[in-house]
Amino acid sequence: MYKIFKFPKDFLWGAATSAHQVEGSNHNDWTEWEKENAARLSKKNEGKYPPENFISGRACDHYSRYEEDFDLAKKLGHNTHRFSIEWSRIEPEEGKFSELEIEHYRSVIRALRARGLEPFVTLWHWTMPTWFVEIGAFEKRANIEYFARFCQRIVKKFSGEVTFWITINEPEIYAGNSYLKGVWPPQNKNFISYIKVLTNLIKSHKNIYEIIKKYDSKAQIGITKNNIYFEAYQNKIGNRILKKFIDWWWNFYFLNRIKKYQDFIGLNHYFHNRIKNFKFNQNENKKISDMGWELYPESIYYVLRSLKRYNQPIYITENGLADAEDKNREWFIKESLKNIHKAISEGVDVRGYLYWSLLDNFEWDKGFWPRFGLVEINYRTLERRIRPSAWEYKKIIEANSIEIS
Ligand code: FCB
Repeated sequence: MYKIFKFPKDFLWGAATSAHQVEGSNHNDWTEWEKENAARLSKKNEGKYPPENFISGRACDHYSRYEEDFDLAKKLGHNTHRFSIEWSRIEPEEGKFSELEIEHYRSVIRALRARGLEPFVTLWHWTMPTWFVEIGAFEKRANIEYFARFCQRIVKKFSGEVTFWITINEPEIYAGNSYLKGVWPPQNKNFISYIKVLTNLIKSHKNIYEIIKKYDSKAQIGITKNNIYFEAYQNKIGNRILKKFIDWWWNFYFLNRIKKYQDFIGLNHYFHNRIKNFKFNQNENKKISDMGWELYPESIYYVLRSLKRYNQPIYITENGLADAEDKNREWFIKESLKNIHKAISEGVDVRGYLYWSLLDNFEWDKGFWPRFGLVEINYRTLERRIRPSAWEYKKIIEANSIEIS
């Protein structure tokens, strides 16, 4: 017996990328950091991956091959695509804007539209021009102005051509890794800085929201938020108290602060975190991805349900897994969609699903080895090969429904 789950009319289907992870030949704070840290990261992994694994270099060369890549997305039935604009290309030196690079991104947007792909444009997906880092990046409140100026340039140029804007990608992951754990550039492990950065990102978002609306009142603006399903094991009181606190801080704090300044919620979802006996991360890990992340597709249902309180449209702007052999991807996508459908049937307004990622790409401090793509990249030849699960995803898109036995 098959059951058919239909998705809402006009549901958006596609995949996401970010500039630094796919474009290649960037010059920003990450490229500098990679050069300094590649040998250390290789050693930390006991030589399992050579230092080159940790250097983004030419990546997928998506910067020159975006048309070919969007042809693939179209061939796979997608009707939307998320990408980010690389600030360091647009403003490599403070106050010097490259019209050529702005035109590049105009061509990217037009190439998407020409293929019937609705663009989701991220203004900042973590990488920054080196001059911005030298003056203290988002640790300094006064620096918000620089980011706003860059965004204003972009928005002014592209207003009318873009409907969906994402100001900031996963502020809490950025602030957490760079300032709380101190493992990402600028590796400044400092609690005060962590709070300052988050506060300044909130301010930045509000600021940019108003700028975009000024140019285009119909624009739809949001952030992409990495929300986690914290589960209180056996619903025990101690576990529940911890869950309440961490839900407030990790999942809702940022969204609460910006709730009057967003038109949709962009949900990036990867993690389930079970709290048992006052301890986090007590997951069963029955199935895991190549990165050791638990594959627990039920979690997206709970996260979506918890976002209902905001009463706003939700687009799933990232969800996926590293799976080089493509052995779990089809199952994972289908199970996740089943759970998304369950949330929709309970009144959660989900309007799109963008798998992470269209292409294999450079996974930050892990480098190239994790394989998230619907499309496999041969990093030697840069040849693209569509993975079998991508064709299965296409069938779902074409039917706008999933069949589950
Ligand atoms: C998210 C990031 C994205 C990618 C995926 C795996 O946190 O936004 O760039 O690295 O994780």
